[in-house]
Amino acid sequence: MTKKVAFLGLGVMGFPMAGHLAKAGHDVTVFNRTAAKAAQWVAQHDGQGKVAAAPTPADAARGADLVLMCVGNDDDVRAVGAAALAGMASGALLVDHTTASAEVAREMHAAAAARGVAFLDAPVSGGQAGAENGKLTIMVGGDAAAFATAEPVLARYAKAVTLMGGPGAGQLTKMVNQICIAGLVQALSEGINFAGRAGLDVDRVLDVIGKGAAQSWQMENRGRTMVADKFDFGFAVDWMRKDLGICLAEARANGSALPVTALVDQFYARVQARGGGRWDTSSLVRLLRDPR
Ligand SMILES: NC(=O)c1ccc[n+]([C@@H]2O[C@H](COP(=O)([O-])OP(=O)(O)OC[C@H]3O[C@@H](n4cnc5c(N)ncnc54)[C@H](OP(=O)(O)O)[C@@H]3O)[C@@H](O)[C@H]2O)c1
Repeated sequence: MTKKVAFLGLGVMGFPMAGHLAKAGHDVTVFNRTAAKAAQWVAQHDGQGKVAAAPTPADAARGADLVLMCVGNDDDVRAVGAAALAGMASGALLVDHTTASAEVAREMHAAAAARGVAFLDAPVSGGQAGAENGKLTIMVGGDAAAFATAEPVLARYAKAVTLMGGPGAGQLTKMVNQICIAGLVQALSEGINFAGRAGLDVDRVLDVIGKGAAQSWQMENRGRTMVADKFDFGFAVDWMRKDLGICLAEARANGSALPVTALVDQFYARVQARGGGRWDTSSLVRLLRDPR
């Protein structure tokens, strides 16, 4: 078993993910830029195996067989990844759970290889609830041998961990995930707004059509809260815009057309302009309910 691990970035996702590793008996050293959060994590997990906080990514990574990170965007991955590599020994493994570009994954893979370290891009789906319940879906890019080492550790907080291909393949798969969600949430918003304006009982409509071909995870998990105009349930619009920006850039490079995704990205820009950057992604319905 990979005993000694480090976890860098204790945000909404990283905090509970690192917690599952401590509960499973790993020795976990954490780093967080805002040190108070790392201290809080240690206080909360003291007594669940050997846990500690380190002042820098390199200090956290030193001596760990496996280093995991979950930060914000491409630049954060470059900064925290480079700092972690400075502390890592040849033969160790770095896994990045951030949703980032395939380009940064390939860059990190090369930078890690130059130091004899393996790198996996391993973005996640399942949101805050998935991280807390240990039921994330993880899509991985990198080498098969590194994947075989990391998989049992990632399984501590996942219901599915799948190697999709070489460096960057995990991030490309996550892009497909976000493309599939974007248009669907807009369609669900349009249906809910239409049902309300048509004078129907919208909850009853969702009950009925949710048992037919229109059913979706978004309808099941967000439909009722959208009807109630509540948007505090997970993945923020600011993060979605980052992700759609990554998708649109990749589509330009590979020649895919993403007309609906590009349009929905602009709708999310309008949600941000209304101060909704931290609302969850189902808030698209607000633009229809209250057009300005
Ligand atoms: N939230 C979700 O539902 C969800 C679902 C799937 C994927 N994701 C992806 O997972 C990643 C993390 O999301 P999150 O919701 O956990 O974000 P978050 O709550 O904002 O946490 C981000 C973490 O990264 C750290 N960080 C960011 N930039 C840094 C830098 N340059 N140097 C050092 N530390 C840095 C932050 O440190 P501080 O505490 O000091 O700010 C914090 O610990 C994102 O890429 C997101 O798109 C999120």
